Amino acid sequence: MSLSAGQLESQVIEVDVSIDGHRVEEADITRVLHEARASIDPGDRVVIHAFPACFAIDGSYGVKEPVGMFGDRLAVSMHVITAAAGPVRNLESAIQRAHLTVARFVASPYASALATLVDDERELGAAVVDMGAGSTQIAIFAGGALVHVDVIPVGAGHITQDIARGLLTPVDHAERLKTYYGAAMQSPTDDREMIDVPQLGETGPAEDITSQLPRSVLTGVIQPRIEETLELVRDYLEAGGFDGIGARRVVLTGGGAQMPGIRELAQTILGKQVRIGRPRRVVGLADATAGPAFATCTGLLLYDQMAPLELSDERQTEAKEQPKGRLARMGRWFKENF
Ligand SMILES: Nc1ncnc2c1ncn2[C@@H]1O[C@H](COP(=O)(O)OP(=O)(O)OP(=O)(O)O)[C@@H](O)[C@H]1O
Ligand SMILES: [Mg+2]
Repeated sequence: MSLSAGQLESQVIEVDVSIDGHRVEEADITRVLHEARASIDPGDRVVIHAFPACFAIDGSYGVKEPVGMFGDRLAVSMHVITAAAGPVRNLESAIQRAHLTVARFVASPYASALATLVDDERELGAAVVDMGAGSTQIAIFAGGALVHVDVIPVGAGHITQDIARGLLTPVDHAERLKTYYGAAMQSPTDDREMIDVPQLGETGPAEDITSQLPRSVLTGVIQPRIEETLELVRDYLEAGGFDGIGARRVVLTGGGAQMPGIRELAQTILGKQVRIGRPRRVVGLADATAGPAFATCTGLLLYDQMAPLELSDERQTEAKEQPKGRLARMGRWFKENF
């Protein structure tokens, strides 16, 4: 299940162990990962992901496969993503009420990144910006690993609300106006093109309750909200360490990335190379799932295949409530002992 609620937070934990000048063996890796796991302290939050971002030998970072190398100290940088426990539990109980269980939570921007970034982007460094309905989510990749996630609580749904308020039209009409006629930037023909805008609360024949407005009025409502969101994205990217010459590629995805003109606007505001990210094709999925709105879902399907092994699974189970009742306790005992 993808998770964008619970104020996702990224944290990097660095732990090192002594290897006394000998050759690094699998056992040393297990030891340093064990130490790293022991030093995770989520407090009252829940660990959603915890995986090694990279290893270091004697202070030189960027080592991917330390086994076989020599040195005095072996260190690991662990990327730990946590979420507030309340929203995670609420989601889980909603799923359980539908007689389903959550196999694992995956941070939404991580799933979107797995689906949209190509190998070179993950390696050289890229940020995925997933513009959803309720929020805009960011995932930053570098050196092949996810290094940062953030969630900005502003999304494409806010544009719909702005249109409904600004043009005094019902919310469902505002959504329709946005998807049919919306654009992130004014175009020269906008003043001449008229659109029908049904008025809020009016009843009667369609021609009486509908006013005609130039399209430029609609764009005038949409553009400032998208600009504001992209300015927030720029600030979050900088705060997440995505700046400098190596950090140039931004991939925009999510339903909101379908707004015409958004790529050009993002390029100007973020000062980066921007492309629209469509999820990679998965055999068997319908053509209708090829658009950016399906990035997160496709990423969930790819997770098992693409994501590195994690240390967090055990902790997630620990954080869950212990099952109640004799049968449930017996089930747990069987699971733990066989
Ligand atoms: N053609 C379009 N132009 C602009 N916006 C669009 C278009 N199509 C869909 N959207 C907007 O995209 C949003 C939905 O995107 P998406 O499906 O990625 O959201 P979500 O994943 O459900 O939400 P969240 O990520 O916040 O949990 C809606 O606000 C919708 O209005
Ligand atoms: Mg989403």
